[in-house]
Amino acid sequence: MDSQTIQQSLGALKRALLLHVGQGKQLLLEELDASRLAQLEYLAALPLKGPQAPPAAKPRQQESRPLVAVSARAADSLPPAEEGSHETAPITRVEPVAPPSSLPEAPKRVLDPGLAPSLDSLHLRFRNCMDCALGEGRKSFVFGEGNGSAELMVIGEAPGEEEDRQARPFVGRSGQLVTQMITAMGISRESVYICNAVKCRPPGNRAPKKEEVAACRPLLERQIELLRPKVILTLGNVATHALLPTGEAIMKIRGSVQQYGKRLLIPTFHPSYLLRSPVHLKEAWEDMRKVRAKLFSTPQAQPREST
Ligand code: URA
Repeated sequence: MDSQTIQQSLGALKRALLLHVGQGKQLLLEELDASRLAQLEYLAALPLKGPQAPPAAKPRQQESRPLVAVSARAADSLPPAEEGSHETAPITRVEPVAPPSSLPEAPKRVLDPGLAPSLDSLHLRFRNCMDCALGEGRKSFVFGEGNGSAELMVIGEAPGEEEDRQARPFVGRSGQLVTQMITAMGISRESVYICNAVKCRPPGNRAPKKEEVAACRPLLERQIELLRPKVILTLGNVATHALLPTGEAIMKIRGSVQQYGKRLLIPTFHPSYLLRSPVHLKEAWEDMRKVRAKLFSTPQAQPREST
């Protein structure tokens, strides 16, 4: 990157920061376009000394780069902040859970999901994602929906035809069953957060390939970090194996209480499977009772920690 580009990037950041200081607003990185944002992320990765040196070759999974690092460096060329100005909140980045060994490495990204400060921001950054081949065939990038402070996060496999059309998860036939499973626990669909392990529809509703799941995993991981649910309910093999390092089939692992970082994770059957094999509805219902018990357990037993 040449010095003129760096100057332009810093200029854009400075203008955004001054706006932030002047208006007491949160800095909205989406105000900068994606390529500018990528440059700023590149700058944020530079070591503090020797800004022309390339960023240290660290695996992306282990990076911990608070947004304040960007502003701290840019602040060298800024006037001191006026009294009463709001600090830009640092982005919390927890130690990522090791990716399941069954998944390949995620591709190198232009934008780092770990730097998105909110679910909305994460959605905005990745709505035009082309990190795997599914980007070419989709109508919609189906990010997820629901309560941004939900204690229950429901994760499916990938959007189907109807989800792709409406840009919403679980709105087709299996979506009706998911809604029934949620309401059977005595909670409303609107109060939970629902998404899929893969955000774009695989052609012909085939199962997503491992590399497609791997490409989406950092995004899913960041969704979990930002939401901080008490319980994650994974529906079927794909969602479960996207997060857990187990190769155990859903038939064996369903209903067990697993740990995903600081979150509890309970796998159950995928609703499409339940529609084809209603004989397993009884077990699915037992799993929902377990989810419900964990959700309503005392705060002391399951503290909602900050990350
Ligand atoms: N619809 C979704 O959104 N996800 C699935 O896994 C299946 C249908």
